[in-house]
Amino acid sequence: MDDIGAAYDAAAALWRTGPERMYARLSEAMADHAPVDLEGARVLDAGAGTEVAGEALRRRGAGSVVAVDLAHGMLPRPPALSAVGDLTRLPFPDRAFDLAAAGFSLNHFEDPMAAMVELRRVAGALLATVFAPEWDHPCKEAIEAVLARDGFEPPAWYRTFKAGSTWELGAAGLEQFARAAGYDRAEARIADVATGMDTPADLVDWRFGMAHTAPYVAALPPDVRARVRREAEEAVAGLPPLVVSMVVLAAA
Ligand SMILES: C[S@@+](CC[C@H](N)C(=O)[O-])C[C@H]1O[C@@H](n2cnc3c(N)ncnc32)[C@H](O)[C@@H]1O
Repeated sequence: MDDIGAAYDAAAALWRTGPERMYARLSEAMADHAPVDLEGARVLDAGAGTEVAGEALRRRGAGSVVAVDLAHGMLPRPPALSAVGDLTRLPFPDRAFDLAAAGFSLNHFEDPMAAMVELRRVAGALLATVFAPEWDHPCKEAIEAVLARDGFEPPAWYRTFKAGSTWELGAAGLEQFARAAGYDRAEARIADVATGMDTPADLVDWRFGMAHTAPYVAALPPDVRARVRREAEEAVAGLPPLVVSMVVLAAA
């Protein structure tokens, strides 16, 4: 977990220029499936990053949002309410919230049970997203191949996380975990979301800002970075628009 927190801390600046736009669209789609009435609801944005899920829920009437994340650098600045914390050991009393919203944070766990049990302790309901197991976009491989030519190697935490994580559970698996974590109702569905990130520049902004690549990209000398960026944009020219297939879990 320390490695993941440090990677997101180091990625935060580039994250805001690329991935944040994609995750904001995905958060809007996630918010459509909230399992509770959002009017005035007390929301915990769990693994909040830059709090795009909290913002989407606030726009739909949430009364208050507290953001919690391992990475201090990702979190919104005051006056937003935020805390550095681990989803398996949250610094909040029982039932402090009506809803925990976990946008693409549970997929950082090999096994999401401890986090789900802890989220259930602090909030009566859970809204969570992970990538659909079969979903992919060809720009991921194309851009990593360009970076690899320049010496990039994915960090160890990313290799572990790709080798087996919560996103492989799919909709039925996530529902099962939610019920085992104590939720009475759990419903998961697949949603396909057009992110609007469609140009080669958008796709490169997305991949260069991810936590496993951003620290490497940020450390490149400016001339090398400009060349690698050009090569990456050439490598993804003509690829399809970025439509993300995600699992949305609503549990209460
Ligand atoms: C893919 S980002 C998504 C951020 C945000 N929810 C969004 O939709 O843009 C995953 C976030 O989960 C956080 N995270 C991963 N594991 C965590 C843990 N055990 N406890 C708290 N936050 C965690 C990361 O630091 C990162 O900010």
